[in-house]
Parts: sequence; structure tokens; C-alpha cells
Amino acid sequence: MRAGGRDPIREAVRLLADRRNAVALTGAGISVESGIPSFRGSQGMWAKYDPMEYATLHAFMQSPRKVWEMLTEMVSVCGEAAPNAAHRALATLEETGVVRAVITQNVDGLHQAAGSRRVIEYHGNMEELVCVSCWKRYPTRERWTPGSVPLCDCGEILKPNVVLFGEPIPWLAQEQAEEEARTCGLLLVIGTSAQVSPACDIPRIAKESGAAVIEINPEPTPLTASVTDIHLRGSASEVLRALTFLMQL
Ligand code: APR
Repeated sequence: MRAGGRDPIREAVRLLADRRNAVALTGAGISVESGIPSFRGSQGMWAKYDPMEYATLHAFMQSPRKVWEMLTEMVSVCGEAAPNAAHRALATLEETGVVRAVITQNVDGLHQAAGSRRVIEYHGNMEELVCVSCWKRYPTRERWTPGSVPLCDCGEILKPNVVLFGEPIPWLAQEQAEEEARTCGLLLVIGTSAQVSPACDIPRIAKESGAAVIEINPEPTPLTASVTDIHLRGSASEVLRALTFLMQL
């Protein structure tokens, strides 16, 4: 917390009110309260599934059936989840003109389900499957049933249209995210451990372009001591609810 000893949440409200054009960058932490586990930490997905065996493009091409064991859990958990107060607060901040876009690393579609309109899906989305051979796409709910390994009409195994390790970020999402970071007045960084690049570069781009950075996370991250102006230490839903309340939105 570096708010010059002033109450960090009130300082954050002042900054959000002063600085127009706020953008949010979200990670798995914002969806934890919707029942979707994060990736790192003792309860994370990567504690159960070694990401080098289950979450790289190479692993998928080598053993798609094995990788689908992990993906089945992710598709099911995302399919059952509903937006929480944090997702809804961000939608309210957009509706009232405080936040103009959400850049999300999450593939769960919960920002859109909460009503956010400008959502940049930096790591893709679970609601669509893509063929790794002919690139044909299908809605997941039309081609996938629990326990099955979905196939394309061409006979190849389908993968969710999410970015696995070793895959590039969709270029349009990368372009849009960097443009938002370069031109925003304030970046809200919510529920990310900031350990995965290039997503973890977005706060640096924003900071170097003159934006203020407010981090919302119960834990410090590599950003906290370097890029972050105000660290609001708490869960996404409690902090964003307090922010929207204090902003009387
Ligand atoms: N509210 C806010 N933040 C939370 C909450 C909560 N309720 N619960 C946990 N967090 C924080 C954790 O302290 C941690 O810093 O959310 C962060 C989650 O970090 P990760 O699990 O590493 O998730 P993320 O940063 O989104 O991962 C980035 O890595 O595995 C890949 O592609 C995957 O998109 C993912 C990327």
C-alpha cells in the first residue's frame, strides 16, 4: 500500500473519479468466488494437473485424450459457474462510464454474463471448440458432452478455443489489450498473480504510458512493489463492492 498513509480505498475512489478512461485487467482470482479454482496456490488447478503435461499445445498434440481429462473439469466447472458481485461491479463501473473495457485472462465468459460489454478475451474462451487441423469452430455445448473427446467433421480431435502454453495470444486481442493499456488513465488489476506473460506486461505498459495502477488481490504479487500505486488487499467482490458503494454507483 503506497497511498501516502491515506485510506487506500478512499484514495482509490479519488483516483477513479479523477482519472477517466479506466480499464480493468482480470485473472482467475475474480472467478474464485464463483466456484472456479484459480491456477496457482495449493488449491489451484496446477496443483492437481502439471501444466507441462496438461496445458501445453505440445501436450495436447501428443495426448489429446489425456489433456481432455483436465479440460473436461474446466469446461464443467466454467459451465456451472455464475458471475459474482465482483463481475457485476465491473459491469456497473462500465455502465456508469468509469471503466471502458475489461481485459480478461479468464476463459469462463463470466464478465459478459454479468453484463460487461467491452471484454477482450486475452486467453480465448471455453464456449467454443476449434479443430487443430482444419481450424473449423463449433459451439462447445453442441459438440461436447462430459467424458467425451469431441471430434471435428474432418475426424480430428477438437480443442477449446483457449490459449494453451506455447500458443500465441490471438493477435486482435493482443492489439486491443495493448492499445487499451497505452491509452487508459487508470488500470485496475484484479485477481491475477501476474506470473504469466505477455499478460503480466500489460500493467507495465499502462504504467509507462502514465496510467495509475490499482491492484486488488488478497496477496501481494510481483507488481505490488514495482508497478502498483495502491494495493487494495482483499477479495475482488468485497473490494469492488466497497469501491462502487463509495462511488455511490
Ligand atoms: N479475489 C481477488 N484475488 C484473488 C481471490 C479473490 N477472491 N482469490 C485468489 N486471488 C488471487 C491470488 O492471490 C492470485 O494472485 O488471484 C490470483 C490468481 O493467480 P493465478 O492462479 O496464477 O491466475 P492468473 O494470474 O489468472 O493466471 C494467469 O496462467 O495458468 C495460466 O492461462 C492461465 O490465464 C491463466 C494465466
